[in-house]
Amino acid sequence: MSHTPVLLDEVLAALSPGDSETIIDGTFGAGGYSAAILRAANCKLVGLDRDPRVGPHVERLAAKFGERFSFVQAEFSGLDQVTSGAQVDGVVLDIGVSSMQLDEDLRGFSFMRDGPLDMRMSSSGPSAADAVKYMSRNDLERIFKVYGEERRARRCADFIVRARDENPVETTGALADILTRALGQSGKRHPATRVFQALRIFINDELGELVRGLLAAERILKPGGRLVVVSFHSLEDRIVKSFLRRRSGEVRGGSRHLPPQSVNETAPSFVLKKRSGVSAGKDELRANPRARSARLRAGVRTDAEPWSEENNLLPVVPGLDVLEGLVA
Ligand SMILES: C[S@@+](CC[C@H](N)C(=O)[O-])C[C@H]1O[C@@H](n2cnc3c(N)ncnc32)[C@H](O)[C@@H]1O
Repeated sequence: MSHTPVLLDEVLAALSPGDSETIIDGTFGAGGYSAAILRAANCKLVGLDRDPRVGPHVERLAAKFGERFSFVQAEFSGLDQVTSGAQVDGVVLDIGVSSMQLDEDLRGFSFMRDGPLDMRMSSSGPSAADAVKYMSRNDLERIFKVYGEERRARRCADFIVRARDENPVETTGALADILTRALGQSGKRHPATRVFQALRIFINDELGELVRGLLAAERILKPGGRLVVVSFHSLEDRIVKSFLRRRSGEVRGGSRHLPPQSVNETAPSFVLKKRSGVSAGKDELRANPRARSARLRAGVRTDAEPWSEENNLLPVVPGLDVLEGLVA
């Protein structure tokens, strides 16, 4: 299945590309946003994606838009390195997996398709099978609880640890079976949904990437430059919301568990576009159910200095470095 871009009109409105401007699409995917941006204005667009398999879409856009379009296989956390520090007019991020990734059996993202338990967007580094094989029961539980918001995370981790002692768990089908035994079949949702989501977020360090991507966008956007982020998960949306609200001076401190920052400590680096974010309208939801959980948030860069780095946007969960150490 090809990927239907979500909230496309709203993205174009918030990004508002102009002639001669430079825009970065940090999550190129099937190039849906990129093509629409290049059609909307006589601008330059740099597409980034960590997935090496977006090649055919890159070729299609290169043939159509020529020198106005370029592509780099990279993670968006490093988007300021990609432009070697040159400032840009817009950055758009459409967080998550594409329909192509979900649909390909061999990528191992979906419990609906049996295949190797992989889940790596970039096809490098440790896989979901490695996480299931090497992570401790406690770490697995924490990952399932935080990234999957799985209430019975302990039980899922217990079942996995018991099963892996008998046979390696190397396929999506094997893991889905274990989770079905652990949680039983009830309700509309497949019992494996939350644990699969948690493993995907963990293996691709999706939240860490998002925080670093926001910080990089803050460094690279010109005054007046637009940051537009579409996310599909409450954990991601919380990070984007908290980042933009703090940076626009709406919320000081960022966490009710932390002391508030003093007023005027740092000048706002963004102006918030719409406080509550934007969701898909009825027509889009009818045409594309995937848009159900999408939320767009946007900010316009001021001329203030970027704020210093911060780590308190991320939940406390074992990092990918723990698994990398175990696999090595
Ligand atoms: C939802 S799709 C984007 C679809 C795109 N907006 C379109 O209209 O075709 C997300 C894409 O972002 C890529 N991606 C996810 N995290 C990334 C990261 N940290 N750095 C670079 N690309 C990433 C995925 O590989 C995937 O291709």
